[in-house]
Amino acid sequence: MSALLSVSDLSKSFGAVVVADQTSFEVAPGAAIGILGPNGAGKTSLFNLITGALRPDAGRIEFQGTDITAISAAGRCKLGIARSFQVPHPFEGMTVFENALVGATEGAGLRGHAAEAHVLDVLEDTGLMPKANQRAGGLTLLERKRLEMARALAAKPRLLLLDEIAGGLTEAECSALIATIRRVHAGGTTIVWIEHVVHALLAVVEKLIVIDFGRKIAEGEPRAIMDSAEVKEIYLGVDPDV
Ligand SMILES: Nc1ncnc2c1ncn2[C@@H]1O[C@H](COP(=O)(O)OP(=O)(O)O)[C@@H](O)[C@H]1O
Ligand SMILES: [Mg+2]
Repeated sequence: MSALLSVSDLSKSFGAVVVADQTSFEVAPGAAIGILGPNGAGKTSLFNLITGALRPDAGRIEFQGTDITAISAAGRCKLGIARSFQVPHPFEGMTVFENALVGATEGAGLRGHAAEAHVLDVLEDTGLMPKANQRAGGLTLLERKRLEMARALAAKPRLLLLDEIAGGLTEAECSALIATIRRVHAGGTTIVWIEHVVHALLAVVEKLIVIDFGRKIAEGEPRAIMDSAEVKEIYLGVDPDV
């Protein structure tokens, strides 16, 4: 089956800082893929390139077989690519419900009762129902992270990009989040998840990609990747010879 997302020879630099270095990978329809890498490796920039927030210096991005490299961020959202932001920035003056409604109307193109019903489902799924009528500006960081996922899910994405959503959670909260992401994945949404909380990632994904200095240094079955000497050294800072 052809790839849902195909990234080919993608390169991007900010001056001397290389955030993508001829990066290529494919995401199959229905896959759940994890992305690991040290801070500053270029993980969030990769999402910015995929969603159209950043333009690549070179390379090509295809979604469902169509070249989207020149399509706007709004256009890519309408095609079915949604993301959560590592640093949440909701519309602070609007309620949780209204924030998620933006995803349902702008991303999924829903209107009226259908949009509202979908948002209620998403708020239930993400554990935000008790906060539905609260202003987003008053949410805790954890609740803001949940709202990031809710807003993205409200857009009914084919491809959901999650950027460090599990950090700072208690074990119980993390388990609940894993269950939510598994449910979303089981419902047919393809997932690419950047996450430092490795055990959470390993509970969901079937493949890992490791990035360092914008370069893909490893890709494969999660346990094999975590056990590889190169990844231990570069990602975890462990010298395998010591
Ligand atoms: N818009 C930008 N302008 C200049 N430098 C940037 C920009 N976005 C990211 N960077 C730099 O690119 C590097 C990679 O950042 P980022 O993609 O956020 O890494 P990661 O998500 O892996 O921690 C960092 O050094 C960061 O400071
Ligand atoms: Mg990041």
